[in-house]
Amino acid sequence: MKAIVYAEYGQPDVLQLKEVAKPAPTDDEVLIKVHAVSVNRSDWEGLIGKPLYARIGGLRKPSNKILGSDIAGRVKMAGKNNNQFQPGDEVFGEMGDYHGGFAEYVCASGRILALKPADMTFEEAAAIPQAGVIALQGIRDKGQIQPGQKVLINGAGGGAGMFAIQLAKLYGAEVTGVDNTGKLDFMRSLGADHVIDYTREDFTKNGKQYDFILDLIAYRSAFAYARALKPNGSYYAVGGSVATFLQFLLIGPWIRRASGKHVRVLAVQRNRKDLEHITDLCKTGKIIPFIDKRYSLSEVPEALRYLGEGRAKGKVVITVE
Ligand SMILES: NC(=O)c1ccc[n+]([C@@H]2O[C@H](COP(=O)([O-])OP(=O)(O)OC[C@H]3O[C@@H](n4cnc5c(N)ncnc54)[C@H](OP(=O)(O)O)[C@@H]3O)[C@@H](O)[C@H]2O)c1
Repeated sequence: MKAIVYAEYGQPDVLQLKEVAKPAPTDDEVLIKVHAVSVNRSDWEGLIGKPLYARIGGLRKPSNKILGSDIAGRVKMAGKNNNQFQPGDEVFGEMGDYHGGFAEYVCASGRILALKPADMTFEEAAAIPQAGVIALQGIRDKGQIQPGQKVLINGAGGGAGMFAIQLAKLYGAEVTGVDNTGKLDFMRSLGADHVIDYTREDFTKNGKQYDFILDLIAYRSAFAYARALKPNGSYYAVGGSVATFLQFLLIGPWIRRASGKHVRVLAVQRNRKDLEHITDLCKTGKIIPFIDKRYSLSEVPEALRYLGEGRAKGKVVITVE
Protein backbone atom coordinates (compact mmCIF):
# COMPACT_ATOMS: atom_id res chain seq x y z
CA MET A 1 0.00 0.00 0.00
CA LYS A 2 0.99 3.64 -0.31
CA ALA A 3 1.79 5.56 2.89
CA ILE A 4 3.51 8.75 3.98
CA VAL A 5 6.50 7.68 6.08
CA TYR A 6 9.32 9.36 7.97
CA ALA A 7 12.48 8.02 9.58
CA GLU A 8 13.61 11.10 11.53
CA TYR A 9 12.03 14.07 13.28
CA GLY A 10 12.12 17.25 11.22
CA GLN A 11 10.26 19.57 8.86
CA PRO A 12 7.73 18.24 6.29
CA ASP A 13 10.50 17.48 3.77
CA VAL A 14 11.48 14.41 5.84
CA LEU A 15 8.13 12.86 4.82
CA GLN A 16 8.07 10.55 1.81
CA LEU A 17 5.33 8.78 -0.13
CA LYS A 18 6.40 5.11 -0.17
CA GLU A 19 5.14 1.64 -0.94
CA VAL A 20 5.00 -0.31 2.36
CA ALA A 21 3.51 -3.61 3.54
CA LYS A 22 -0.25 -3.56 4.13
CA PRO A 23 -0.92 -4.10 7.86
CA ALA A 24 -2.64 -7.28 9.04
CA PRO A 25 -5.26 -7.03 11.81
CA THR A 26 -4.78 -8.88 15.10
CA ASP A 27 -7.74 -10.91 16.41
CA ASP A 28 -9.05 -7.78 18.20
CA GLU A 29 -8.62 -5.36 15.31
CA VAL A 30 -10.24 -4.46 12.02
CA LEU A 31 -8.46 -3.62 8.77
CA ILE A 32 -9.78 -0.38 7.31
CA LYS A 33 -9.42 1.06 3.81
CA VAL A 34 -8.79 4.72 4.65
CA HIS A 35 -10.90 7.18 2.63
CA ALA A 36 -10.07 10.33 4.59
CA VAL A 37 -7.75 11.31 7.44
CA SER A 38 -7.62 14.70 9.11
CA VAL A 39 -4.50 16.59 10.18
CA ASN A 40 -4.06 17.53 13.83
CA ARG A 41 -1.44 19.53 15.69
CA SER A 42 -0.50 16.18 17.28
CA ASP A 43 0.69 15.10 13.79
CA TRP A 44 2.80 18.25 13.51
CA GLU A 45 4.20 17.62 16.99
CA GLY A 46 4.92 13.98 16.07
CA LEU A 47 6.69 15.18 12.91
CA ILE A 48 8.99 17.74 14.52
CA GLY A 49 9.37 15.75 17.77
CA LYS A 50 8.27 18.66 19.99
CA PRO A 51 7.00 19.04 22.71
CA LEU A 52 8.87 16.20 24.41
CA TYR A 53 5.69 14.12 24.83
CA ALA A 54 5.64 13.77 21.03
CA ARG A 55 8.74 11.50 21.39
CA ILE A 56 7.06 8.93 23.61
CA GLY A 57 7.98 5.64 21.96
CA GLY A 58 10.96 7.07 20.07
CA LEU A 59 13.28 9.48 21.84
CA ARG A 60 15.87 9.86 19.04
CA LYS A 61 13.91 8.57 16.03
CA PRO A 62 10.21 7.95 15.50
CA SER A 63 9.43 4.29 16.22
CA ASN A 64 6.14 4.35 14.34
CA LYS A 65 6.93 5.74 10.92
CA ILE A 66 3.42 6.63 9.78
CA LEU A 67 1.63 9.63 11.32
CA GLY A 68 -2.11 10.33 11.14
CA SER A 69 -4.71 9.90 13.90
CA ASP A 70 -8.22 10.69 12.73
CA ILE A 71 -9.36 8.24 10.11
CA ALA A 72 -12.60 7.50 8.28
CA GLY A 73 -12.95 4.53 5.96
CA ARG A 74 -14.50 1.16 5.19
CA VAL A 75 -13.84 -2.07 7.09
CA LYS A 76 -12.19 -4.63 4.82
CA MET A 77 -11.52 -7.43 7.28
CA ALA A 78 -12.34 -8.06 10.95
CA GLY A 79 -10.15 -10.03 13.43
CA LYS A 80 -11.85 -13.09 14.89
CA ASN A 81 -12.52 -11.52 18.32
CA ASN A 82 -14.02 -8.44 16.77
CA ASN A 83 -17.78 -8.74 16.74
CA GLN A 84 -18.59 -5.02 16.54
CA PHE A 85 -17.88 -4.31 12.90
CA GLN A 86 -18.32 -6.27 9.67
CA PRO A 87 -16.54 -5.92 6.34
CA GLY A 88 -18.24 -3.12 4.43
CA ASP A 89 -19.07 -1.00 7.52
CA GLU A 90 -18.17 2.67 7.18
CA VAL A 91 -16.34 3.69 10.35
CA PHE A 92 -14.34 6.56 11.81
CA GLY A 93 -12.32 7.31 14.94
CA GLU A 94 -9.00 8.35 16.44
CA MET A 95 -6.07 5.93 16.37
CA GLY A 96 -5.07 4.82 19.88
CA ASP A 97 -1.41 5.81 19.47
CA TYR A 98 -1.86 8.81 17.11
CA HIS A 99 -0.27 6.83 14.24
CA GLY A 100 -0.97 4.94 11.04
CA GLY A 101 -3.58 7.09 9.32
CA PHE A 102 -1.56 8.68 6.48
CA ALA A 103 -1.87 5.46 4.49
CA GLU A 104 -4.24 3.53 2.25
CA TYR A 105 -4.97 0.95 4.97
CA VAL A 106 -4.80 0.94 8.74
CA CYS A 107 -5.58 -1.54 11.53
CA ALA A 108 -7.49 -0.30 14.57
CA SER A 109 -9.16 -1.67 17.65
CA GLY A 110 -12.96 -1.69 17.30
CA ARG A 111 -13.23 0.01 20.71
CA ILE A 112 -12.14 3.39 19.38
CA LEU A 113 -14.31 3.32 16.25
CA ALA A 114 -17.88 4.41 15.59
CA LEU A 115 -20.13 3.86 12.59
CA LYS A 116 -19.96 6.80 10.21
CA PRO A 117 -23.38 8.44 9.78
CA ALA A 118 -24.63 7.66 6.26
CA ASP A 119 -25.35 11.31 5.52
CA MET A 120 -21.83 12.43 6.42
CA THR A 121 -18.89 12.28 3.99
CA PHE A 122 -15.66 10.48 4.95
CA GLU A 123 -13.95 13.90 5.04
CA GLU A 124 -16.54 15.38 7.42
CA ALA A 125 -16.29 12.33 9.70
CA ALA A 126 -12.47 12.39 9.73
CA ALA A 127 -12.55 16.05 10.84
CA ILE A 128 -14.29 15.22 14.12
CA PRO A 129 -12.60 12.65 16.42
CA GLN A 130 -9.59 14.15 18.21
CA ALA A 131 -10.55 17.82 18.05
CA GLY A 132 -14.24 17.20 18.74
CA VAL A 133 -13.66 14.99 21.80
CA ILE A 134 -11.05 17.40 23.24
CA ALA A 135 -13.59 20.22 22.98
CA LEU A 136 -16.42 18.13 24.45
CA GLN A 137 -14.43 16.92 27.44
CA GLY A 138 -13.02 20.41 27.97
CA ILE A 139 -16.15 22.54 27.61
CA ARG A 140 -18.90 20.14 28.74
CA ASP A 141 -17.14 17.97 31.35
CA LYS A 142 -14.48 20.23 32.85
CA GLY A 143 -16.20 23.53 32.10
CA GLN A 144 -19.69 22.59 33.34
CA ILE A 145 -20.63 25.85 31.63
CA GLN A 146 -23.69 27.75 32.86
CA PRO A 147 -25.47 30.31 30.64
CA GLY A 148 -23.88 33.73 30.88
CA GLN A 149 -20.52 32.52 32.15
CA LYS A 150 -17.39 33.99 30.63
CA VAL A 151 -15.28 31.44 28.78
CA LEU A 152 -11.92 32.01 27.08
CA ILE A 153 -10.48 29.56 24.56
CA ASN A 154 -6.78 29.97 23.81
CA GLY A 155 -5.83 28.66 20.35
CA ALA A 156 -9.49 28.91 19.35
CA GLY A 157 -8.96 29.22 15.59
CA GLY A 158 -7.53 25.69 15.18
CA GLY A 159 -9.13 22.25 15.20
CA ALA A 160 -10.19 21.73 18.82
CA GLY A 161 -10.81 25.46 19.29
CA MET A 162 -13.25 25.52 16.38
CA PHE A 163 -15.41 22.89 18.15
CA ALA A 164 -14.87 24.48 21.57
CA ILE A 165 -16.14 27.94 20.54
CA GLN A 166 -19.32 26.46 19.09
CA LEU A 167 -19.91 24.16 22.09
CA ALA A 168 -19.41 26.97 24.60
CA LYS A 169 -21.91 29.11 22.66
CA LEU A 170 -24.35 26.18 22.65
CA TYR A 171 -24.16 26.10 26.47
CA GLY A 172 -24.89 29.84 26.59
CA ALA A 173 -21.44 31.18 27.46
CA GLU A 174 -20.00 34.57 26.56
CA VAL A 175 -16.99 33.41 24.56
CA THR A 176 -13.61 35.01 23.95
CA GLY A 177 -11.40 33.36 21.33
CA VAL A 178 -7.63 33.91 21.22
CA ASP A 179 -5.54 33.20 18.12
CA ASN A 180 -3.40 34.92 15.48
CA THR A 181 -4.39 37.95 13.37
CA GLY A 182 -5.45 35.84 10.37
CA LYS A 183 -7.99 33.84 12.40
CA LEU A 184 -9.93 36.64 14.13
CA ASP A 185 -12.76 36.79 11.57
CA PHE A 186 -12.93 33.00 11.51
CA MET A 187 -13.42 32.87 15.31
CA ARG A 188 -16.13 35.53 15.05
CA SER A 189 -17.86 33.50 12.33
CA LEU A 190 -17.99 30.51 14.73
CA GLY A 191 -19.81 32.66 17.29
CA ALA A 192 -17.04 34.14 19.45
CA ASP A 193 -18.37 37.28 21.16
CA HIS A 194 -14.85 38.71 21.62
CA VAL A 195 -11.55 37.92 19.95
CA ILE A 196 -7.98 38.57 21.02
CA ASP A 197 -4.98 38.57 18.69
CA TYR A 198 -2.23 36.79 20.61
CA THR A 199 0.45 38.53 18.54
CA ARG A 200 -0.69 41.90 19.95
CA GLU A 201 -2.26 41.25 23.34
CA ASP A 202 -1.58 38.91 26.26
CA PHE A 203 -4.93 37.84 27.70
CA THR A 204 -3.32 37.13 31.08
CA LYS A 205 -2.21 40.76 31.38
CA ASN A 206 -5.24 42.79 30.27
CA GLY A 207 -7.07 42.71 33.62
CA LYS A 208 -10.01 40.61 32.34
CA GLN A 209 -11.11 37.47 34.19
CA TYR A 210 -13.02 34.36 33.13
CA ASP A 211 -15.05 31.59 34.76
CA PHE A 212 -13.40 28.98 32.56
CA ILE A 213 -10.36 28.86 30.28
CA LEU A 214 -9.61 26.03 27.85
CA ASP A 215 -6.03 26.26 26.57
CA LEU A 216 -4.98 24.36 23.47
CA ILE A 217 -1.47 25.78 23.55
CA ALA A 218 -0.19 26.45 27.10
CA TYR A 219 3.24 27.96 27.66
CA ARG A 220 2.81 30.57 30.39
CA SER A 221 3.25 30.25 34.16
CA ALA A 222 0.46 28.84 36.30
CA PHE A 223 0.29 32.21 38.10
CA ALA A 224 -0.39 34.06 34.83
CA TYR A 225 -3.33 31.78 34.05
CA ALA A 226 -4.65 32.02 37.62
CA ARG A 227 -4.60 35.83 37.26
CA ALA A 228 -6.99 35.55 34.29
CA LEU A 229 -9.50 33.47 36.32
CA LYS A 230 -12.37 34.76 38.43
CA PRO A 231 -12.49 33.52 42.04
CA ASN A 232 -13.33 29.77 41.88
CA GLY A 233 -12.66 29.81 38.13
CA SER A 234 -11.03 26.86 36.33
CA TYR A 235 -8.29 26.63 33.74
CA TYR A 236 -7.50 23.44 31.80
CA ALA A 237 -4.53 22.99 29.47
CA VAL A 238 -4.82 20.45 26.65
CA GLY A 239 -1.67 21.09 24.61
CA GLY A 240 1.57 22.90 25.39
CA SER A 241 5.07 22.31 26.67
CA VAL A 242 5.97 19.51 29.09
CA ALA A 243 7.67 22.03 31.40
CA THR A 244 4.43 24.01 31.59
CA PHE A 245 2.41 20.87 32.38
CA LEU A 246 4.87 19.84 35.12
CA GLN A 247 4.61 23.30 36.59
CA PHE A 248 0.79 22.98 36.73
CA LEU A 249 1.10 19.64 38.51
CA LEU A 250 3.46 21.13 41.09
CA ILE A 251 2.00 24.61 41.59
CA GLY A 252 -1.67 23.95 40.70
CA PRO A 253 -2.63 22.42 44.10
CA TRP A 254 -0.94 25.31 45.91
CA ILE A 255 -2.87 27.88 43.82
CA ARG A 256 -6.12 26.04 44.58
CA ARG A 257 -5.52 26.12 48.34
CA ALA A 258 -4.51 29.79 48.26
CA SER A 259 -7.17 31.17 45.90
CA GLY A 260 -9.80 28.51 45.14
CA LYS A 261 -8.81 28.66 41.43
CA HIS A 262 -8.08 25.49 39.49
CA VAL A 263 -5.10 25.32 37.11
CA ARG A 264 -4.91 21.82 35.67
CA VAL A 265 -4.10 19.60 32.69
CA LEU A 266 -6.91 17.84 30.84
CA ALA A 267 -5.98 14.25 29.96
CA VAL A 268 -8.48 13.42 27.22
CA GLN A 269 -10.11 9.96 27.44
CA ARG A 270 -11.01 8.56 24.04
CA ASN A 271 -14.38 6.87 24.01
CA ARG A 272 -17.05 6.03 21.49
CA LYS A 273 -19.88 7.65 23.50
CA ASP A 274 -18.28 11.10 23.36
CA LEU A 275 -17.35 10.67 19.71
CA GLU A 276 -20.96 9.80 18.90
CA HIS A 277 -22.26 12.72 20.95
CA ILE A 278 -20.15 15.38 19.23
CA THR A 279 -20.93 13.74 15.87
CA ASP A 280 -24.68 13.99 16.60
CA LEU A 281 -24.25 17.72 17.25
CA CYS A 282 -22.54 18.00 13.86
CA LYS A 283 -25.21 15.90 12.14
CA THR A 284 -27.99 18.10 13.45
CA GLY A 285 -26.17 21.25 12.35
CA LYS A 286 -25.68 22.55 15.91
CA ILE A 287 -21.93 22.44 15.29
CA ILE A 288 -20.25 22.94 11.93
CA PRO A 289 -16.98 21.00 11.53
CA PHE A 290 -15.32 23.58 9.30
CA ILE A 291 -12.83 22.15 6.80
CA ASP A 292 -10.39 24.82 5.65
CA LYS A 293 -8.46 22.80 3.04
CA ARG A 294 -8.38 19.34 1.48
CA TYR A 295 -5.28 17.59 0.16
CA SER A 296 -4.45 14.20 -1.41
CA LEU A 297 -2.29 11.55 0.31
CA SER A 298 0.81 12.60 -1.64
CA GLU A 299 0.24 16.18 -0.45
CA VAL A 300 0.45 15.35 3.30
CA PRO A 301 3.77 17.29 3.58
CA GLU A 302 2.06 20.45 2.22
CA ALA A 303 -0.94 19.89 4.50
CA LEU A 304 1.31 19.62 7.55
CA ARG A 305 3.31 22.65 6.45
CA TYR A 306 0.06 24.64 6.11
CA LEU A 307 -0.87 23.74 9.71
CA GLY A 308 2.65 24.17 11.07
CA GLU A 309 3.01 27.63 9.51
CA GLY A 310 -0.06 28.76 11.41
CA ARG A 311 -2.42 29.21 8.48
CA ALA A 312 -4.96 26.42 9.07
CA LYS A 313 -8.39 27.53 10.27
CA GLY A 314 -10.47 24.74 11.78
CA LYS A 315 -9.57 21.44 10.16
CA VAL A 316 -7.38 20.24 7.27
CA VAL A 317 -8.35 16.92 5.70
CA ILE A 318 -6.56 14.43 3.45
CA THR A 319 -8.67 12.54 0.90
CA VAL A 320 -7.17 9.09 0.24
CA GLU A 321 -8.18 7.84 -3.20
N1 LIG B 1 -4.33 16.47 26.70
C1 LIG B 1 -4.63 15.47 25.90
O1 LIG B 1 -5.04 14.39 26.34
C2 LIG B 1 -4.49 15.65 24.41
C3 LIG B 1 -5.01 14.71 23.53
C4 LIG B 1 -4.88 14.95 22.17
C5 LIG B 1 -4.22 16.09 21.72
N2 LIG B 1 -3.72 16.97 22.62
C6 LIG B 1 -3.06 18.22 22.21
O2 LIG B 1 -4.05 19.21 22.09
C7 LIG B 1 -3.61 20.22 21.19
C8 LIG B 1 -4.78 20.41 20.25
O3 LIG B 1 -4.54 21.35 19.34
P1 LIG B 1 -5.36 21.49 17.99
O4 LIG B 1 -5.37 20.20 17.27
O5 LIG B 1 -6.61 22.22 18.23
O6 LIG B 1 -4.26 22.42 17.31
P2 LIG B 1 -4.38 23.46 16.15
O7 LIG B 1 -5.46 23.06 15.21
O8 LIG B 1 -3.02 23.68 15.63
O9 LIG B 1 -4.86 24.76 16.96
C9 LIG B 1 -4.02 25.44 17.85
C10 LIG B 1 -4.22 26.91 17.57
O10 LIG B 1 -3.45 27.66 18.52
C11 LIG B 1 -2.89 28.76 17.85
N3 LIG B 1 -1.74 29.30 18.59
C12 LIG B 1 -0.41 29.09 18.40
N4 LIG B 1 0.30 29.79 19.30
C13 LIG B 1 -0.59 30.46 20.06
C14 LIG B 1 -0.47 31.36 21.14
N5 LIG B 1 0.73 31.71 21.63
N6 LIG B 1 -1.59 31.85 21.70
C15 LIG B 1 -2.82 31.52 21.21
N7 LIG B 1 -3.01 30.67 20.16
C16 LIG B 1 -1.90 30.14 19.61
C17 LIG B 1 -2.51 28.16 16.53
O11 LIG B 1 -2.31 29.22 15.64
P3 LIG B 1 -0.96 29.44 14.84
O12 LIG B 1 -1.49 29.03 13.55
O13 LIG B 1 -0.65 30.88 14.99
O14 LIG B 1 0.13 28.53 15.32
C18 LIG B 1 -3.73 27.33 16.20
O15 LIG B 1 -4.74 28.08 15.56
C19 LIG B 1 -2.32 19.69 20.56
O16 LIG B 1 -1.21 20.28 21.18
C20 LIG B 1 -2.37 18.19 20.88
O17 LIG B 1 -1.09 17.57 21.03
C21 LIG B 1 -3.84 16.78 23.94
